[in-house]
Amino acid sequence: MTHQPLVLGIETSCDETGIGIVRGETLLADAIASSVDEHARFGGVVPEVASRAHLEAMIPTLERACTTAGVRLSDVDAVSVTAGPGLAGALMVGVAAAKSLAVALGVPIYGVNHLAAHVAVDIVEHGPLPEPTMALLVSGGHSSLLLVPDVTADIASLGSTIDDAAGEAFDKVARVLGLPFPGGPHIDRMASQGEVTIDFPRGLTQGRDLERHRFDFSFSGLKTAVNRWVELRQRSGEEVPVADVAASFQEAVVDVLTKKAVAACRAQGVEHLQIGGGVAANSRLRALAQERCDAAGIELRVPRPGLCTDNGAMVAALGAQMVLRGRTPSDLSIPADSSMPVTEVLA
Ligand code: KG4
Ligand code: ZN
Repeated sequence: MTHQPLVLGIETSCDETGIGIVRGETLLADAIASSVDEHARFGGVVPEVASRAHLEAMIPTLERACTTAGVRLSDVDAVSVTAGPGLAGALMVGVAAAKSLAVALGVPIYGVNHLAAHVAVDIVEHGPLPEPTMALLVSGGHSSLLLVPDVTADIASLGSTIDDAAGEAFDKVARVLGLPFPGGPHIDRMASQGEVTIDFPRGLTQGRDLERHRFDFSFSGLKTAVNRWVELRQRSGEEVPVADVAASFQEAVVDVLTKKAVAACRAQGVEHLQIGGGVAANSRLRALAQERCDAAGIELRVPRPGLCTDNGAMVAALGAQMVLRGRTPSDLSIPADSSMPVTEVLA
């Protein structure tokens, strides 16, 4: 058998410091340090706090990953790192660390796109990606429908959110309902105890809006509708049925996400859908996506929740694909690019 490349991946685009180690298509380690608790009282990620936390966590997380994988840094064949998109200062910490390692070890560096890495991670969970794959990426920072003919070189964006990201909507609505940050998991839990009793709006799903934004999303109108509904209740002195509001809001989000994802597969003749990003951990999204994919004859792949949220394994997984497919490494001068377009898979 040929030598399988050992690739170390570094992720620092938001509030997780992730170091993943992959050999070929096998995950050996996925070490994570999160600064989410430091942001909780602000109700959102504070960029400067995140950057500092990455600096502090980098070396310990790197050591933990090597220990778990049972490898030495000198065994590493290539380093890959999230070059963008993400928070500029946070990205810079990861890119600087990756460059230092690449120089010290004398190995190539791959500056990869964060969104492409979210797609590539499923390779270490469920094997080679079908080509093409449709990917629905939903997290606190992004909501995108991507057509992926080749995750190492060729990705097209079919649509994305025109206002809030899906996870952002979960977090904001959770706040209105008095649930802690990040709100997604709390809404998921509350919703399981409630019923879908309120018909909240589904953005960009009808008429001209749908024509113009067939595969785009909008969650800001939904968020406002939930706000108003809760406010009216509170003003009239009535109790807010938190579980029912959570269930109804969640249903509105996942209904639109799954409907548009399946429609995109149909429109492009794609038979494989993958869902990734933090919101892919949502139990109702997983269930409804499965139901609708089964009905449409589409194969659904969703990585386990720990690989859906930001992590280093996804960056290592994509880096290893770059090596396996013989892609030219990045230049050592690559910048951190906070607005890196998804069509740019490799910097
Ligand atoms: O991918 P991720 O860890 O970080 C980025 O934003 O890139 O995603 C975090 C987002 C948060 O908005 C969080 O509320 C949401 O994912 N989330 C969920 C669930 N678990 C996490 N949203 C809905 N249901 C969940 N079970
Ligand atoms: Zn992400």
